[in-house]
Amino acid sequence: MSFSILGTGKAVPEYVLTNDELSTMVDTNDEWIRTRTGIEERRICKDETITELCVRAANAALKDANVKAEDLDLIICSTMRGENLTPSQACMIQKEIGAKCAAFDLNAACSGFIYALDVADGYFVRKKAKYVLIVSMDNLSNITNWKDRSTCVLFGDGGAAAVLGEGDDLLSINLTAQGNDTVLRIPHGTNSSPFYEHEAEPAVLSMAGNDVYKFAVNAMSEGIKKAVADAGLQQSDVDCVIPHQANIRIINMAASKLDIPREKFFCNVEHYGNTSSGSVPIALDEASKSGVIKKGDIIALCAFGGGLTTGSCVIRWNK
Ligand code: ACO
Repeated sequence: MSFSILGTGKAVPEYVLTNDELSTMVDTNDEWIRTRTGIEERRICKDETITELCVRAANAALKDANVKAEDLDLIICSTMRGENLTPSQACMIQKEIGAKCAAFDLNAACSGFIYALDVADGYFVRKKAKYVLIVSMDNLSNITNWKDRSTCVLFGDGGAAAVLGEGDDLLSINLTAQGNDTVLRIPHGTNSSPFYEHEAEPAVLSMAGNDVYKFAVNAMSEGIKKAVADAGLQQSDVDCVIPHQANIRIINMAASKLDIPREKFFCNVEHYGNTSSGSVPIALDEASKSGVIKKGDIIALCAFGGGLTTGSCVIRWNK
């Protein structure tokens, strides 16, 4: 017993920040951003709060799954930074959708959705849950250094949710982490203690892009290879790959190291940039709603992110 994905739903902010508008804020241009990253635009929160987006995605996924909030047994929110330190973002979602189950947050940066799938799987295996809601949502715009052209062009806000029910459609899943705070880091930003002797660093993202790039290509290609082999399948059995949408060049390079045709990699990075843990489930939702993935398809998901974390899994699509 593992689970089936019963429904998905996404929520992104209204405001579209184009490469051209970014070019008025930092020394960059549309051509550089498109050719180096594949990104054309991203969504940025103005009046939307992260809780509003989470609730929109959760309700859309519940509707898609035909499951009522009161029937949920667990809510996991994968996010790097919810509305509050406490209550957790998952508790905020629970309050707003009217669920009555356990709820907690999980932070594995961009790999968060796949980490949450693995945690949820444990609840199904132990028969502690019939329905689990996962919401993966980040609003990186509030920790972006908007003066750093090498990072501020990469990220966007948004995320998506999935409702899981009992089933046998998780065929394999792998998580990894290597404690590394030198290539990618976002400090907390505040410390109210009058006793603490270190200075609080601002809560903005810093990244060694080239190091992350090399890590990412290897993580994605090796992660997919392992997940497919662990599922007892060949790479040729995979109908669709849903990769973390960080950079089109990372996806192209990872694809070139696999025996899976590039056309099978679903991409929407041009519209959203890197939405962190929201990225894989937004792509999954769009692949499902647009008919790119169909009932019975074998799907590989893979992600990498701060930590450094990775996650990869193979699922049978059953919707
Ligand atoms: N516009 C114009 N020029 C730029 C910009 C910009 N926005 N950013 C950097 N440049 C310049 C650099 O200054 C450099 O100029 P120089 O040669 O005169 O020094 C030149 O472009 C090349 O810079 P590189 O860093 O070598 O560019 P590269 O082709 O490697 O692309 C990038 C950089 C896009 C950041 C790439 O390394 C990348 O995608 N890395 C992975 C990042 C990633 O996926 N992060 C997600 C982490 S997940 C999470 O958990 C948040």
